[in-house]
Amino acid sequence: MGNWKMNGSLASNQQLLEQLIASLGSAHSHSDVVVCAPYPYLAQLQQMLANSAVEWGAQNLSAEPQGAFTGEVSAQMLNDFACKWVLVGHSERRALYGETDADVLAKTQAALDAGITPVVCVGETESEQAAGQTENVILQQLQSILKLDSALLSRIVVAYEPVWAIGTGKSATPEQAQAVHAYIRQLLAQHNAPKVRILYGGSVNAANAADLFLMPDIDGALVGGASLQAADFLSIAAA
Ligand code: PGA
Repeated sequence: MGNWKMNGSLASNQQLLEQLIASLGSAHSHSDVVVCAPYPYLAQLQQMLANSAVEWGAQNLSAEPQGAFTGEVSAQMLNDFACKWVLVGHSERRALYGETDADVLAKTQAALDAGITPVVCVGETESEQAAGQTENVILQQLQSILKLDSALLSRIVVAYEPVWAIGTGKSATPEQAQAVHAYIRQLLAQHNAPKVRILYGGSVNAANAADLFLMPDIDGALVGGASLQAADFLSIAAA
């Protein structure tokens, strides 16, 4: 899953998407390939990707259905552009825009209500990791979501993105990531949702993806920087 963040333009997106389509074609492989773009480009994604193997989504949504919420975008609006996926609680939303665990829960519920798969992002900061707090932080971030009815919980995706690995070129090692994924898997299993997909994110690139994907509890990747280069993203998808 590519997270374009606040990057792109109509022209550069077209070029990137054309390369993805040319390589991936229209047949679905056994893995899902998804790009999450800024809101204004969702129409472009819908138009270009509708009959392709590439799915699309947004990077955020409002928990509110409609009304006086200037600048916000609802789940039903994402449905108008056939988004199947939406990122929720990315660490940049939490750190830069003050999103709380309560916000993340409300957004997760709004996405599920609208039939869109929320990709719930969790992860510890460098100082939390240094203090040995990784599992506590993840538990805190996931706690209220784990209390969702297990049929609903089974429909989410979790992305583990250690904040210290995002955009730094300093990916977690496969073993480090696996240890946290195994912990998340155990939490999900305790809540009757053992098959929820758990993506790793944080400096995933063409060179390190395959080793990460060898780990038993790493089901895929959430890719920032490398998703903006077709060749890199395609080689991650191939891995
Ligand atoms: P990165 O970003 O791959 O550029 O580290 C990942 C993310 O923030 O989702």
